[in-house]
Amino acid sequence: MSTKLLHVITWGCQMNVYDSARMGDALAPLGYVPAPKPEGADMIILNTCHIREKAAEKVFSELGRLRAYKEASGGRMILAVAGCVAQAEGAEILARAPYVDIVLGPQTYHRLPEMVARATRAAGAVIDTDFPPESKFDYLPEQATPQGISAFLTIQEGCDKFCSFCVVPYTRGAESSRPARAVLAEARRLVAAGAREITLLGQNVNAWRGEAPDGGFWGLARLVRELAEIQGLLRLRYTTSHPRDMDASLVAAHKDVSILMPYLHLPVQSGSDRILRLMNRKHTASDYLRIVTRLREARPDLALSSDFIVGHPGETDGDFAATLELVRHVGYAQAYSFKYSPRPGTPAASMKQVPETEKDRRLQELQALLREQQSQFNRSCVGESMSVLFTGPGRHPGQIVGRSPFLQAVHISGPEGLIGTEAPVKITASLPNSLAATPITQELACT
Ligand code: 5AD
Ligand code: SF4
Repeated sequence: MSTKLLHVITWGCQMNVYDSARMGDALAPLGYVPAPKPEGADMIILNTCHIREKAAEKVFSELGRLRAYKEASGGRMILAVAGCVAQAEGAEILARAPYVDIVLGPQTYHRLPEMVARATRAAGAVIDTDFPPESKFDYLPEQATPQGISAFLTIQEGCDKFCSFCVVPYTRGAESSRPARAVLAEARRLVAAGAREITLLGQNVNAWRGEAPDGGFWGLARLVRELAEIQGLLRLRYTTSHPRDMDASLVAAHKDVSILMPYLHLPVQSGSDRILRLMNRKHTASDYLRIVTRLREARPDLALSSDFIVGHPGETDGDFAATLELVRHVGYAQAYSFKYSPRPGTPAASMKQVPETEKDRRLQELQALLREQQSQFNRSCVGESMSVLFTGPGRHPGQIVGRSPFLQAVHISGPEGLIGTEAPVKITASLPNSLAATPITQELACT
């Protein structure tokens, strides 16, 4: 079988990064190997994201660019569009970009080999945006491409929460959880292939409720405890969580499971109860603050991250002030903030909109506060000792980089032999996007 080059372009969340890797796995049996550049590729997959602003327009302009590679190949190259825009706008893509060969949604990438065979044979394009009854996870090759020291593992997909602003329940479908046995097996394979840190992924990862090996069901807390038993696994994380699914057992896991890192992305979106109600979040600002208090009681060094939306329909200056108030109260180590962008088909899109200039002003004010909190958090680390999991060489000779427990990038001057290990360092400086550190030499204890 001849080797073929596969170039994958990934936009959006970490779940898309994972999906892209698994699409590569699905195509490996056909001879496809990953190619870093589009030039000369036999197949290009554009894995898209639909979450915010002008998603479809971005896809069409990128497809216009990719068309040149297809023409350069004499039309032989296969061009596929995957992900959430493909799911939501499949027919439109084929109508406006007829040179696209395959359109596939996030639930059907295990069928890619069959789609490629059909696209190669048939004159017309192949579209597969089903929500099939079988799970793609059951049909993907077991032998996944090694992901390196820090690996992602999707355990849950979809969302039943229907926040007023969000397309995810429509593009990714209903919540579904992979069985515990499959997750544990994949985690063991990742660790055997060199992973030392695993980040469990899901749109609502803490809503995971998977079939247990003994026939019952486990929640995420139990899964985390089981994963922590895997020899060689040094760190565990999970993202993204919903406050409503942050139950007492998961809070307790943060206290008891030492490899569960003290950093949690827990989106709140707004600090105003009125807006949270309009958003259909099903929690109040004080519910969220109570969870944060419990988490910090369980794990006092826990650092928090969140997502915020400004300018959701109905948001007044007073509502926005409540968001700033919540941010000041919590103190975030890191956060993402966005201007509300109407998504076709979602309830908030048909409500009266906040003027763009107002959204801009609020976003700037919120981001200034969040930036200040982030640099304050980073500055507070200077002089502290912490362990870093080294993941690769740095930009400068003799430098290696890794992540702190709080997900900050940390670089030191040190031997490449440390890559793949966790080692203690002392933080010496806080830079805009990273921390500098020196290794702490461990004295060998004499017995
Ligand atoms: N407009 C702006 N931000 C959005 N998000 C989701 N939908 C929208 C939208 N329509 C943000 C939320 C979510 C993150 C992944 O993207 O903050 O948590
Ligand atoms: Fe979207 Fe809300 Fe579901 Fe998160 S919880 S994926 S924001 S609908």
